[in-house]
Amino acid sequence: MNYYAYHLALREEEVKGIKLALLPGAPERCCKIASAFGDFEELASHREFKTVKAESEEGKILVVSTGIGGPSLSIAVEELAQLGVRLFLRVGTCGAIQEGIAVGDLVISEGAVRMDGASPHYAPLSYPACAHWEMVGALKKACELLRCRYHLGITCSSATFYPGQERYDTFSGYIISSLRGSREEWKKLGVLNYEMEIATLFTVARVLGLRSGAICGVLVNRNEKEEVEEEKIEEIEDRLSQVAAEAARLILSGEE
Ligand code: URA
Repeated sequence: MNYYAYHLALREEEVKGIKLALLPGAPERCCKIASAFGDFEELASHREFKTVKAESEEGKILVVSTGIGGPSLSIAVEELAQLGVRLFLRVGTCGAIQEGIAVGDLVISEGAVRMDGASPHYAPLSYPACAHWEMVGALKKACELLRCRYHLGITCSSATFYPGQERYDTFSGYIISSLRGSREEWKKLGVLNYEMEIATLFTVARVLGLRSGAICGVLVNRNEKEEVEEEKIEEIEDRLSQVAAEAARLILSGEE
């Protein structure tokens, strides 16, 4: 059988034997992440899903963009699992909600609040969204080896960028009552950051018997301001790519 992944536009034979995928949201980040790992080759590009194969001494990996949000991430993970991938690391960006987390710091998620919208299609909301400890270990070790500032904890994954993350700088400026005050509440409960995909990844991976982890670069601290500083994005993406590639090497070489 030679499975064809419809959304990813990939054939099984093109990715045979590859067990690990790094998952950025943005297609334009795939090549940067792949180049931090080793030589790379673009395999496919269809809708939000771009796939790049990279190879280093430690082995081969895929870098696959998932697009924004849980629904498209779930498609990517489902199809990659059918293609033989078993280990998944999300490599994304986020907004911090705790004081003391600086723009450019990295956040490793141990677990995620399931406001993603997609994960209840896989398991009831009482089911936890948690990372695999080996993936957390590899990401932590990679940050330490590369001397990057990092934070470990719980992430809130929201189905929306604006109301779900309680942003008022919108067209209407209105947020429904059930979400008003939610940012302050997550902050009080110790949640570190907002993003949009991790809860889906952790839930889908667990339910399907796969291993997952996630690391995000901090684009903004919401206690300080709402706007992302565009000029810092490239530096943050570089750091994130180096750490993700190092974590992939550690996982492939069996050091984690
Ligand atoms: N991605 C998000 O979902 N939220 C942010 O604040 C930044 C990146």
